Amino acid sequence: MKEEYLLKEKIAAEGLMHTAWAGKTLYYYETTDSTNVRAKQEAERNAPHGALFVADEQTAGRGRRGRAWQSPAGRNLYFTLLLRPGVAVDKASMLTLVMALAVAEGIGGVLRKEGREASLRPGIKWPNDIVLDGRKVCGILTEMSLEPEQNGIQYVIIGAGINVGKQEFPKELLDKAVSLEELLGAPLSRSRLLADIMQSFERHYEAFLKCQDLTYLREEYEAMLVNYGRAVRVLEPGGGFDGVARGITNTGELLVERPDGSVQRVYAGEVSVRGIYGYV
Ligand code: BTN
Repeated sequence: MKEEYLLKEKIAAEGLMHTAWAGKTLYYYETTDSTNVRAKQEAERNAPHGALFVADEQTAGRGRRGRAWQSPAGRNLYFTLLLRPGVAVDKASMLTLVMALAVAEGIGGVLRKEGREASLRPGIKWPNDIVLDGRKVCGILTEMSLEPEQNGIQYVIIGAGINVGKQEFPKELLDKAVSLEELLGAPLSRSRLLADIMQSFERHYEAFLKCQDLTYLREEYEAMLVNYGRAVRVLEPGGGFDGVARGITNTGELLVERPDGSVQRVYAGEVSVRGIYGYV
């Protein structure tokens, strides 16, 4: 049986998704434009908190900053989780970091099962790229819809694209992107990885809700932060500066120490952070 069919059937198979709500309602598309677009459409039609939208192929996959996300069939994971969090609007951006943690943990679990945890460790490039062997293996795009009066969140959708199968990346991504199977040298089950990520997300989300911030997740996030202690270049619309990443705040901003010793909080969305000596 072809793997694209396995993706659907295995996800739906009883017993794989060990969650209370995340991924319990599943929308599966063999091919669609973008799971983020599908999630928004179904959110408007009252799809529940935790609904999961998965596609084997996307014809108009969307990346951050208006970029496209190449989404060929049969080899990767493309999914979007719909949340209806009862939290204030300014808390929503932290959910992206919660998902980054869940994906990194899910990938870490796969590496453990393959006995590769010593040689390959997943990391997070702030705020939400998942990195393996210094290259990006997953990107996350979070979008939000506000209540009609604009004073509350109607829903948040978090879309993640994970490079699972071996593939040829476009020339400009060659030294920046990598797939799990390329590094593992072995095939892995996309549906199992997805189920592990949902389980991990659910747990981290409950921790997030306790204080409605990253108080209980910060340590774990920082342990995976590949920028930690490294030189970074903060690119802002009107210029930028260089410094050393010193961790994150409880609300998810990156702490960057400038050469004069002052520490600046960097907010995701306004800026992008690059390693001075490469992608990380
Ligand atoms: C990035 O640019 O790093 C974010 C990429 C996010 C891609 C995923 S794939 C599933 C979901 N649907 C989309 O159209 N985009 C996200």
